[in-house]
Amino acid sequence: MKVATILGTRPEIIKLSALLPLLDASCTHILIHTGQHYDYQMDAVFFDELHLRKPAYMLDIGSHEQGKQTGMMLWKIEEVLLKERPDMVIVQGDTNSTLSGALAAAKLNIPLLHLEAGCRSFNREMPEEINRVIADHLAHFLIAPDEQSVINLRNEGISSEKIFLLGSTLFDAVLRNRDFLQVDAVLKEFGLQKDAFVLTTIHRAETTRKSEMLRGIVQALNEISKDATMVFPLHPRTKKVLDEQGITLDERIKVIEPQSYFRFLALLSAATLCLTDSGGIQEEAVVFNTPCLILRNETEWVRFTRAGKNILLGTSPEQISRRTIDLLHNREEINRLRGIIYPYEQGVVENVLALLNKWKQ
Ligand code: UD1
Repeated sequence: MKVATILGTRPEIIKLSALLPLLDASCTHILIHTGQHYDYQMDAVFFDELHLRKPAYMLDIGSHEQGKQTGMMLWKIEEVLLKERPDMVIVQGDTNSTLSGALAAAKLNIPLLHLEAGCRSFNREMPEEINRVIADHLAHFLIAPDEQSVINLRNEGISSEKIFLLGSTLFDAVLRNRDFLQVDAVLKEFGLQKDAFVLTTIHRAETTRKSEMLRGIVQALNEISKDATMVFPLHPRTKKVLDEQGITLDERIKVIEPQSYFRFLALLSAATLCLTDSGGIQEEAVVFNTPCLILRNETEWVRFTRAGKNILLGTSPEQISRRTIDLLHNREEINRLRGIIYPYEQGVVENVLALLNKWKQ
């Protein structure tokens, strides 16, 4: 069996990291990297740290407007697929690399497997939502992370035979790596104390492209920083918009470079709470029992908010600062949130591989 996996961004590398070695070991496996992310700290560091084999194809597409980036990827991926003719293409998640890979495979009639299928925010202003919906409707194998995703897919008329409720591969990635975290060393480097800081990340187009929304969130973070030590690994997209719009983070906030996976997980595991618009961090926070406050009006990862484990904060500056500060002053509530045990799944990547093997028989 010949399988081609397409990725291009930091979250795809991480979420696929436990599956890629299994594919390398069990079939002819071609890894195609679109180059959507390209800085060392957004890309190569994860290949090094997670001991992943280098991609067979580096397409070096880089950053462009949505349509141009997607179109260039589609063109280049198609060239590779025409040359390699794999039996199956695998894509993950909701990025422009996911969409391009899915489209390229579909147009060549190559069966497509989509990991993280069925997640919906129902917010079509997000490029990620558009990417997910299209990838799902093109896929032959839809690997859903949770029951709500299965329901979403069925509601869109996708046949149940194509849907496989196997869970999220991100838990496998965290669990395989959490023993390697050097928490004390990372905390020392940044002058932090365990359980005495707030970790924050912002990167989504939805958040950053409306400068008023970003300004409001930054205003809230600046307010919270009066009460708590804050650490903010700054995504290149966010940095660019902050610089262009002249939006300033308070000096009290420790702004740091994007971190490697182990270093980020070390920070997440030791934080009192995290404030984020990321999807993956909502799942990773569950593993470390770090209360996760979501800087969005909706989330695709509803299973954790419904369980009361993660909290949807919204995007109103007053709401973000008031609720975060209230929580920081309420140890009992922080401990209650930590005490909610969410039974997340493991061994998802082995089940994905078993599905592929069964299909090929
Ligand atoms: C993408 C994904 C998003 C994912 C996120 C994780 C889409 C539509 N969005 O958004 O779902 O959660 O990745 O990071 O695919 N840049 C760099 N260096 C890099 C990468 C990006 O400087 O290595 C800068 C570029 O200058 C560009 C900006 O980041 O202006 C946006 O890059 P883009 O490719 O749109 O991706 P993300 O915003 O990271």
